[in-house]
Amino acid sequence: MKPLTITSRLEVYDDIEETPEDVQDLMKQAIGVRENAYAPYSKFKVGAAILLEENRVVVGSNQENASYPSGLCAERTAVYAAGAQFPDSRILKIAITAKSLRNKVVTPVPPCGACRQALMEYEVKQDKPIEIYFMVEMGKVVKAESVKELLPLVFDNSWL
Ligand code: THU
Repeated sequence: MKPLTITSRLEVYDDIEETPEDVQDLMKQAIGVRENAYAPYSKFKVGAAILLEENRVVVGSNQENASYPSGLCAERTAVYAAGAQFPDSRILKIAITAKSLRNKVVTPVPPCGACRQALMEYEVKQDKPIEIYFMVEMGKVVKAESVKELLPLVFDNSWL
């Protein structure tokens, strides 16, 4: 047996103002669209804004359903909308923000596993990394240079 250690490299900014200007703009759009979340069950609102080539932005928020698994996260709502509308446009960055109406959440909220897998599909498709920036309501912003940093040992089309 040989141990295998996997490391991820992330960067942590103290607040939005410390991030590059285009990320500040993107995160502000994510904050805005977070309010459109339809989250009557979890009371957990998430907004995502995707920056595509040619400076196009596509946004999404989580959409819940009385049949719980039929709902969808903000990140996948946004990335599938981008794929549906601009299939040939490369995804450069995604900014994500979450706000709980129930609890005081203070740590940045990373995308769930299913959203990491969905984002990875597009990173593989375009063969260029997607930068991910995530935070909670305000405060620290965590950056991953690539979906790979959040999803090591990925299952992708290389096995198919
Ligand atoms: N949610 C997201 O929108 N993105 C994530 O990455 C984590 C979870 C949503 C799904 C559900 O509507 C609510 O947050 C609680 O899980």
